[in-house]
Amino acid sequence: MKNLSILTLAAILLAIPAGAQPEKQPGKLDIDLKKPGAAIQPTLYGIFFEDINYAADGGLYAELVKNHSFEFPVDPLQGWKAFGKVEVRDDGPFERNPHYVRLSDPGHPHKWTGLDNEGFFGIGVKARETYDFSVWARVPSGGSSTIRIEIANPASMDEVHFICQGTITVKGSEWKRYELKLKPEQTLDKAVLRIFLWGEDRTTVDLEHVSLFPADTWKGRPGGLRKDLAQALADLHPGVFRFPGGCIVEGTDLATRYNWKNSVGPVENRPLNENRWEYTFPHRFYPDYFQSYGLGFYEFFQLSEDIGSEPLPILSCGLACQFQNDSTMPDAHCPVDELEPFIQDALDLIEFANGPVDSKWGSVRAEMGHPAPFNMKFIGIGNEQWDTLYPERLEPFIKAIRAAYPEIRIVGSSGPNSEGEQFDYLWPEMRRLGADLVDEHFYRPYKWFLSQGDRYDNYPRKGPKVFAGEYACHAKGMKWNHFYASLLEAAFMTGIERNADVVHMATYAPLFAHVEGWQWRPDLIWYDNLHSFRTASWHVQQLYGQYRGSNTLKLTMDGVNVTGAEGQQGLFASAVLDGGKVYVKVVNTSDYDQEICLNFNGLKKNESMKAVGGVRLSSPNLYVDNSLEDPERIIPEAFEFKGAGKSLEAKVPACSFSIFILER
Ligand code: AHR
Repeated sequence: MKNLSILTLAAILLAIPAGAQPEKQPGKLDIDLKKPGAAIQPTLYGIFFEDINYAADGGLYAELVKNHSFEFPVDPLQGWKAFGKVEVRDDGPFERNPHYVRLSDPGHPHKWTGLDNEGFFGIGVKARETYDFSVWARVPSGGSSTIRIEIANPASMDEVHFICQGTITVKGSEWKRYELKLKPEQTLDKAVLRIFLWGEDRTTVDLEHVSLFPADTWKGRPGGLRKDLAQALADLHPGVFRFPGGCIVEGTDLATRYNWKNSVGPVENRPLNENRWEYTFPHRFYPDYFQSYGLGFYEFFQLSEDIGSEPLPILSCGLACQFQNDSTMPDAHCPVDELEPFIQDALDLIEFANGPVDSKWGSVRAEMGHPAPFNMKFIGIGNEQWDTLYPERLEPFIKAIRAAYPEIRIVGSSGPNSEGEQFDYLWPEMRRLGADLVDEHFYRPYKWFLSQGDRYDNYPRKGPKVFAGEYACHAKGMKWNHFYASLLEAAFMTGIERNADVVHMATYAPLFAHVEGWQWRPDLIWYDNLHSFRTASWHVQQLYGQYRGSNTLKLTMDGVNVTGAEGQQGLFASAVLDGGKVYVKVVNTSDYDQEICLNFNGLKKNESMKAVGGVRLSSPNLYVDNSLEDPERIIPEAFEFKGAGKSLEAKVPACSFSIFILER
């Protein structure tokens, strides 16, 4: 935990409803079982993916080699250390990634030619696991040449640097893909990949698209995803998977927006794109942060399918990031009458996901290994857009998508803020345009979360539904993960759940962060090169996903919703039905334990509710979270909740999130 200033601590303590426990009857929570409330959408709790904080390259995408195609723009050898006679050339076999390296005899038998790759903050490998090395290569003169590949630890005090090695003999002047399996003898979190031009005659050889993957990826897919990180997503039971962002959808300029068409097809020919998170914050600058697109739209759809989520791609609406541009800046905004290629991108994406195998884009999907459609149902157009610039662009997208694919549901944006002028302008505009869902974003402080338990209680029931597309509690002066922030997220989510007829999707953001490469905190899942941990916020999301239920149930205290309102002692609560089960979620944000009574109305005379158990998230220290060293410091714990009757008493400890499980 960081050291907190006295002022920060004072501000935090003021935010927590404090004081001596009032002399009061147990808070009676009335739960109405007469009839189930609104259906809860399977999409309600989901995940938001953006390549920020090294979430893709260096994160979920398990490729261990940085700049594998020698395409980093300022220096094609960025991430590499070359030695001997290495030349970068640009007439390679892959049209959209033309660079490659030529390794030649250094001119003296005691000298060496080759290169080291530093990976992403080093290359993490585990002892006795298999790693798949591959490279495209040729011998320009014909004949054959040998390269030696090592995983090495240049900082080692051992006799040798390498912890495993092997050789490949490259034959002939045609480009071919060569593979080698490597099995390190040690675990290292910061190894390098070392390639030597080897053999007696050291014949000149050309190398392109150098790759190293763990064989043990998610679902064992070659060139796939990092297993622990994909598993952390699957374990959330997410109902919707939003990708690829976030701001990177928009680009700093239109040329650098996320271009899904560049992210599909053979990985060797997916062109590199800039990543705005390289330079967005000069105080956390990462000059080597690019998007290889190795994790592209095909992989996003496949992952959605794997984890049972509805895919929700977000595409550019023709406006580059409005935080970074005004209309006077070059390549900022596409004129409305020139939007056709952007609209076509959206239509083609739907064909890529759902079209028949003999359609232009459906055939690309099929060639990549998925002839069956992905059954995409949602598309988002624009991220955090605002002003008249946005609706006037969204309109032609909606018309074109409705005309070609009337079944697809379209997500529009309410801008970057949870309230205010743009929000008030954009919501009616989204209604006018007939958007199906409206994306709301809120990275907000404690006070906001404590005051928004009833946010959706009075939203119009007709018209577009809400997609709370990016949110997290950002404490002032404490913008990092800690339990109390996650508790307030849990409190706020009772309001999402109670209003499941209006809120159809909600995704915490951002999702991933590398401990050595983050630009933005807090985040849901953290990792280094070998380990990862799930934050308290992750556990909040997981609990909501696991105990989602099928229908809301009306829950009130003294006749009103339990939203942390004045007089409610910092309690927030909601209840759902799940077949014969009822889950009651109670968040006590106050600093004292409280007695509550769960009182069920609508039971038949002889009927009663049976308590079957409970699960609770709490932490003795509010300002800490899990960490690489202590990944399970804060995890949900089962508590005893027994008994039967129409009314059951229970306790909710100070600053805790409890789920009571009952059977009818
Ligand atoms: O989640 C980080 C950023 O926050 C997203 O890219 C953007 O949409 C929002 O401003």
